[in-house]
Amino acid sequence: MPEWLKDAVFYEIYPPSFRDGNGDGIGDLAGITAGLDYVRELGCNALWLNPVFDSPFLDGGYDIRDYKKVAPRYGTEADLVRLFDKAHRLGIRVLLDLVPGHTSDTHAWFQASCRAEPNEYWGRYVWTDHPFAGIAGHPYISGMKERAGSYMLNFFASQPALNYGWLNRTEAWMSAADSPEALATREAMKDVMRYWLDRGCDGFRVDMADSLVKNDDENKSATAAVWRDVRTMLDHDYPEAALVSEWSNPVQAINGGGFHMDFYLDHVGNGYNTLLRDYEAGGADRSYFRKDSGGDIRRFLDDYLPKYENTRSRGYISMFTCNHDTPRPAWTLSADEMKLYFAFLMTMPGVPFVYYGDEIGMKYADVPTKEGGYQRTGSRTPMQWDHSVNLGFSDAGAEDLYLPVDTAPDAVTAADQEQDPESLLNTARKWIAVRHRYPDLQADAPFAVLSAAGGQDIFAYQRGKLVCAMNPSGTTKQLRDEQLEGKNVLAVTGAAELSEETLILGPQSFALLG
Ligand code: NOJ
Repeated sequence: MPEWLKDAVFYEIYPPSFRDGNGDGIGDLAGITAGLDYVRELGCNALWLNPVFDSPFLDGGYDIRDYKKVAPRYGTEADLVRLFDKAHRLGIRVLLDLVPGHTSDTHAWFQASCRAEPNEYWGRYVWTDHPFAGIAGHPYISGMKERAGSYMLNFFASQPALNYGWLNRTEAWMSAADSPEALATREAMKDVMRYWLDRGCDGFRVDMADSLVKNDDENKSATAAVWRDVRTMLDHDYPEAALVSEWSNPVQAINGGGFHMDFYLDHVGNGYNTLLRDYEAGGADRSYFRKDSGGDIRRFLDDYLPKYENTRSRGYISMFTCNHDTPRPAWTLSADEMKLYFAFLMTMPGVPFVYYGDEIGMKYADVPTKEGGYQRTGSRTPMQWDHSVNLGFSDAGAEDLYLPVDTAPDAVTAADQEQDPESLLNTARKWIAVRHRYPDLQADAPFAVLSAAGGQDIFAYQRGKLVCAMNPSGTTKQLRDEQLEGKNVLAVTGAAELSEETLILGPQSFALLG
């Protein structure tokens, strides 16, 4: 387990939307490199970059044409190495995005696999042996290529599934997970990882990590075995490298696959959604962090606690503000509500991730789809730096921007929020700094619920010798507990008073006691 993860706070950057270094209207690596000081001042000491590789961009770059080539619109390999170097000088680690389950249909491997005659890449993707038969229960395409077969899709139509084999094999054409062709795919992906690790990256966020072996069992044990093999390589050759999975099943991903971290995604009805956007409940939004919503922290805890307990000795659950696939927190929460969420996120176990712009409360924008984003596009608009042209994102004409910037006169910006000690930006900075200051708040320090009475009553938890307590409601609340005796208020958002064993928390307040 890389030691640095204990105190890691990640910042996720969607590359075309962070900062444009060359004035063409699209964010790029030079822009990200220039923005690293801001990331460092926020207190983040790790980055996750969405794919920066050559791609036709039919899925925001998750459709890779060449794993070893930087997309020209973002710059060159030398620019990426410069980014790694500056990040490392600032004490920031950098994870790239590994997309192991599929490529773009323009990838040279796929083009070769489409030829009528067998060749080295025939087994690289999932193909049937007949053009008139599909793949029961799986999306596929037939009739478009010379090869007499149908090929399986992993996501959009432009993203054919790479072949890691099948566990439950019902057709002669299904490769076994330990067949030479499935092992060759696995080795090709390890080769990609080595390529970038050797150039200075610090690990990978792994896209659809659970999708590799088809017809896997309910524990995804064959897919997990692929990742354990990858982890063995890392432990041996790159022990400081970190892997975080897009899996959202930490028991499978961490215990089974050996991932260091697994994202707690916004899956329907799960604990994360009950905190920020409980629209699945039907009727009014009952999100816990919405003031006076009638939300209940126990709905989060019921989902989270068993996952935490079952994986805490082996890896970390990664909670986030949101990501490039989800609505932004500002879609449902006010700035004051987001402040409490930041305090919570930075005092929970595991490794937290902040999505660019959430630290200033950027809106979930109403914009047309871009590059396969569809409703996700609203969370991918340009970073709002200041009130200069295009909010400081780019010098290009507005018509050339990757996506429009927020044109509202009161659009939030980092520069404005710098000036206000109570801003969301400064509150986020404060709680990130607090996390760095106290090892008891970091990834692996013990966590135990102290009080979760339900409703929006005070929710309090112990982290090591510290106590965190929050009141997201609009009224003052009180908690009496002998664990509070002798403690002091170490940090607060809102208002907190502690006398002997009684804590009084003002409306929308969060306190760290120790
Ligand atoms: C998950 C990624 O986060 C998403 O943006 C992408 O479209 C799919 N995987 C397919 O790669």
